[in-house]
Amino acid sequence: MKAVCFDTPGSPDVMKVSNFEMPKIYDDQVLIEVKYAGLNRPDIVQREGKYPAPPNHSKILGLEVSGFVCKIGANVTRFKKGDKVAALVNGGGYAEFCTSDEETTFKIPKNISLKEAATIPECFFTVWSNLIMRGKLKEKQKVLIHGGTSGIGIAAIQILKLYKSEIFTTVGTNKKKSFCESIGVQNVFNYKETDFFEEIKKIEEKGIDIVLDYVGGDYINKNINLLKSDGKLINIGFLNGSLANINLMRVMLKRLTITGSTLRIREKAYKARILDDLKKIVFPNFENGNIKCYIDSVFKLKDVVSSHQYLERGEHIGKIVLEV
Ligand SMILES: NC(=O)c1ccc[n+]([C@@H]2O[C@H](COP(=O)([O-])OP(=O)(O)OC[C@H]3O[C@@H](n4cnc5c(N)ncnc54)[C@H](OP(=O)(O)O)[C@@H]3O)[C@@H](O)[C@H]2O)c1
Repeated sequence: MKAVCFDTPGSPDVMKVSNFEMPKIYDDQVLIEVKYAGLNRPDIVQREGKYPAPPNHSKILGLEVSGFVCKIGANVTRFKKGDKVAALVNGGGYAEFCTSDEETTFKIPKNISLKEAATIPECFFTVWSNLIMRGKLKEKQKVLIHGGTSGIGIAAIQILKLYKSEIFTTVGTNKKKSFCESIGVQNVFNYKETDFFEEIKKIEEKGIDIVLDYVGGDYINKNINLLKSDGKLINIGFLNGSLANINLMRVMLKRLTITGSTLRIREKAYKARILDDLKKIVFPNFENGNIKCYIDSVFKLKDVVSSHQYLERGEHIGKIVLEV
């Protein structure tokens, strides 16, 4: 089969499409003939050699796919050959065929295309795991999501709307600001023009209930200072660095929780619990149009280098997809 590989980590042009051996499935897995694979920022970090695949995960990039089941393991009961599915996978998505655990594979919600379905797993699993399971989000809370137009940001905004949250977000351009406003975010700050910290302080004297952040760096102290008593800071990435001088007195006095997580290394049973929740609460909202898949652009597998160059520029709004 054809798949994207690289010999040594580095810039986008280390990637090339080559011939690979067909992947073998375990008894509790299915083999998917991949039609689309979603791109995610962690793919860049892996390509750069800073986020190697965990043991037993495919070395091929790609954390989410959609396509058709073409083989099932001996213990698989929920799928048959020909089923149209999407899946959160243990790497291997940038390829013509990809193995997937039965428990992280799902039938595509009604009214969602194969192309759209490939954009669901990584961001919706991550956001659900962090905002709902870890953050224990309640209705009508005030929540700050940094990077509102990223895959993660748009998934978070749409889940927060289900919980009637008051949403605050940061973006890097006015085009992104208008987009976030158009999907119902009440408070959007272009961080290149205003200091989100000062602006939120003016509006919300009491502070924010939950901050979901993947930027880090100088946002860390701003996030902590924006939280109200019993607030939670949830870190899922550190694009601007993970080191900060923190005055823990504030954490103690405001009874804050500072936490975070990565999805990829979590056990299969945990990912299965997330999928159960998504099927019950989020997928019906895809079907009735309340939640949408926002696709910025689609690249052919052979143009994978351009797709990563584009992802790295960060101008996109929503998800970037590879057509396999
Ligand atoms: N922990 C987990 O389990 C997990 C899982 C998935 C993703 N993540 C993390 O979540 C983050 C978002 O992933 P994604 O795939 O949704 O991203 P994405 O679609 O590529 O969007 C990233 C956006 O972040 C903004 N940004 C802010 N500061 C930045 C900086 N210093 N460098 C580059 N971009 C910056 C940019 O928009 P602006 O123009 O608005 O700045 C950019 O478009 C990544 O850090 C990723 O590693 C974590």
